[in-house]
Amino acid sequence: MIHIPKSEYSRRRKALMAQMEPNSIAILPAAAVAIRNRDVEHVYRQDSDFQYLSGFPEPQAVLVLIPGRVHGEYILFCRERNAERELWDGLRAGQEGAIRDFGADDAFPITDIDDILPGLIEGRDRVYSAMGSNPEFDRHLMEWINVIRSKANLGAQPPNEFVALDHLLHDMRLYKSAAEVKVMREAARISARAHVRAMQACRAGLHEFSLEAELDYEFRKGGAKMPAYGSIVAAGRNSCILHYQQNDATLKDGDLVLIDAGCEIDCYASDITRTFPVSGKYSAEQKAIYELVLASQEAAFAEIAPNKNWNQAHEATVRVITAGLVKLGLLQGDVDELIASEAYKAFYMHRAGHWLGMDVHDVGEYKVGGEWRVLEVGMALTVEPGIYIAPDNQNVAKKWRGIGVRIEDDVVVTKTGCEILTGGVPKTVAEIEALMAAARTQAA
Ligand code: GLY
Ligand code: MN
Ligand code: MN
Repeated sequence: MIHIPKSEYSRRRKALMAQMEPNSIAILPAAAVAIRNRDVEHVYRQDSDFQYLSGFPEPQAVLVLIPGRVHGEYILFCRERNAERELWDGLRAGQEGAIRDFGADDAFPITDIDDILPGLIEGRDRVYSAMGSNPEFDRHLMEWINVIRSKANLGAQPPNEFVALDHLLHDMRLYKSAAEVKVMREAARISARAHVRAMQACRAGLHEFSLEAELDYEFRKGGAKMPAYGSIVAAGRNSCILHYQQNDATLKDGDLVLIDAGCEIDCYASDITRTFPVSGKYSAEQKAIYELVLASQEAAFAEIAPNKNWNQAHEATVRVITAGLVKLGLLQGDVDELIASEAYKAFYMHRAGHWLGMDVHDVGEYKVGGEWRVLEVGMALTVEPGIYIAPDNQNVAKKWRGIGVRIEDDVVVTKTGCEILTGGVPKTVAEIEALMAAARTQAA
């Protein structure tokens, strides 16, 4: 299995500590276990920030970084080994494992945190934490601070600055290392196979969930624990619902099916959308809209390179789509004016992409000092233009209504432009029709 090497977690912790102010401490909790219903838990997914710095996969853990601390800079609070619990729920690293396998300098039982952590915070000027994202943990943190305050008459010094860790950490996460790109390539490769499998399996009479099952099969077979987000399998008019999740309608000849799905490998997401005809052949109107979206995506790729700004790719998609909609008679007027008045938003109401990484909508600022961010090597993003013609749009001829097309790929900025990670799924009309025809011939 391709994964982030242990040495990289150590490198990240050092890089973060190098940016922290002198005499400070960073404190970060693991994700909580979420109850699904009664005794059933949701599949556990580690918090992305915690994972980024530790690679530690367990819940009930707290990571502490104290740059310059003589007795160890990296402290992990985690669950103790427990034969009874491990028999029921699985192995735990314990404190020994935290040190031996996860690089902690020091490790303590999580049950001792109230006794130990105030002592580690005391005397530090600044506390870095993910303020606001975990209210329960924020409350705990204040309790630990209050323990220190209550001993002020004994000379205890509570910190006087609380700093959001996000600024430092999320900027680090925006730049993907070679190891991260390798993992993202693998997630993309598995997801590409899943999309191909869904295209091959597609037949009228099946359901949206039948194709979701094909996706899940490839994800799991490839070693992914779970999709990076709820898979969207949207046939017919459902393709016009941007984040459709129901996935239970019947597939009908004559309809398109839009699949937006990607798996997660070692907590790194992929995010792919393809839109193809249930019958295996696009109608004239479907093809016209599809090829317009594809042309806009091609125009966007050309705007992704170092020194181009974040918005240029989006602007390129808006221009191509608006001009194309005018040509098809779906919009009327001057292209520049239609762009200025945002008339295209009746058909293309989202942006061309987002940062991609450990979170599918990844962290990182899109603007710096009020200006669109300039792209740099290692930034990963999606390119996902779309056109959605509402089923009840009375301003267009009936033949267009209910067509929804999105095409989405994942890219990483390189020195000369960008690398497309998700090129393993066919994309042109001819390629998709050929793939689907071959699958049908084989099955017959
Ligand atoms: N899968 C959600 C998105 O494309 O942003
Ligand atoms: Mn998507
Ligand atoms: Mn996306």
